[in-house]
Amino acid sequence: MEKFAVHFQGAKRDPYKQSKLVPGLIHHFGFKIQTRSKLLKTLNKVLHAEPYSKVQKARIRALFEVMTVLSDSTIWQDTWPANTKGKGMAIAPIYAAHCLSDCKRTTAFSSGLHDAIEEAMQRFPDQRPIRILYAGTGPFATLALPSMAKFSPEDIQFDFIDIHETSTQNLSELLEKLDFEDFAQNIITKDVFDHQDADGYHIAITETMGPALANEPQIPIMRHIRKMLVENGILLPEEIQLGLLIGNDNYQVLTPMIWKYTALEDKAETFAPLEIRYQYQPKEPCNEEVSVFAATQVKVFADNLVTFGHTSITDPIGMGTLPNIPPNSSIEVAYRAGQDLVYGTEQPICRLISK
Ligand SMILES: C[S@@+](CC[C@H](N)C(=O)[O-])C[C@H]1O[C@@H](n2cnc3c(N)ncnc32)[C@H](O)[C@@H]1O
Repeated sequence: MEKFAVHFQGAKRDPYKQSKLVPGLIHHFGFKIQTRSKLLKTLNKVLHAEPYSKVQKARIRALFEVMTVLSDSTIWQDTWPANTKGKGMAIAPIYAAHCLSDCKRTTAFSSGLHDAIEEAMQRFPDQRPIRILYAGTGPFATLALPSMAKFSPEDIQFDFIDIHETSTQNLSELLEKLDFEDFAQNIITKDVFDHQDADGYHIAITETMGPALANEPQIPIMRHIRKMLVENGILLPEEIQLGLLIGNDNYQVLTPMIWKYTALEDKAETFAPLEIRYQYQPKEPCNEEVSVFAATQVKVFADNLVTFGHTSITDPIGMGTLPNIPPNSSIEVAYRAGQDLVYGTEQPICRLISK
């Protein structure tokens, strides 16, 4: 039977022998990813699948188990974030690894990248390989795995960057074990804000995003990597929307998404701090506690969306709570992000205005 081990010369590098967990573990959740060809099939099926279906959840769990088995144990021990030039924090390898398990996010981003590669192949018919910058890979380069299963190294080449050496070290070993190493033009341990590239990328992707754009440097990174694209290149995600929501017991939506970041339209050099204000007067006085939240929705590429709620990047975060809204009163809410649009340094506003 073909196993991952067929790609290894010596027993020392056989992942089945490196881990005490295998081979039983890879029978998880109805999946038997014992062979590389089975892994490639599973990676292909991840693309464009219904993210909440049982079978997709099982695939994602099985992939997480396989990547765990093939990874170095240090990724679970590195728990400290890194500071990214004062533009937010880079989450630690352990948390970056766990991002794979976020089914809806992983499905939308990896499918979006796949579709963007197909689009780039049409936009640049005479240029191969399509050069891709993947900023913030974590230890698995999760978002690129299905595309590496689908395309050839002659068609696509990645520059993989992460600020955490534990992640890049693991990634380079993992790519070898998966027989994907030929897809990596470079694996770079660096703060991406220090990275420059003279030749130009056809695609640049990053998912460095906390809920409601809190703490992590998504937008500053997008603004930086956008400059390294060739003309007509593709920046992912295409669009991030932010909105305020009011919650009673059943999360009623207060506003549609009211602020939109479309990276390719962004030409400014620095961001001013952002303040979004919204005033809400309920039709009826509200006698119960009211909570206000901020949340994002993300359009990765074309119809690959991470819609509001239930993911690590689009879960709402609390802006404040009021005991009720009396007659003739309204509430005023403001989401405030500091310089570079990283939310978390400025206090939000949530107050009652009585007439
Ligand atoms: C949310 S994790 C995503 C991991 C993986 N790409 C995925 O989608 O599953 C973000 C990754 O970006 C990295 N990162 C954040 N800021 C960075 C920066 N300025 N330079 C390089 N890497 C950064 C973090 O170290 C972390 O590994």
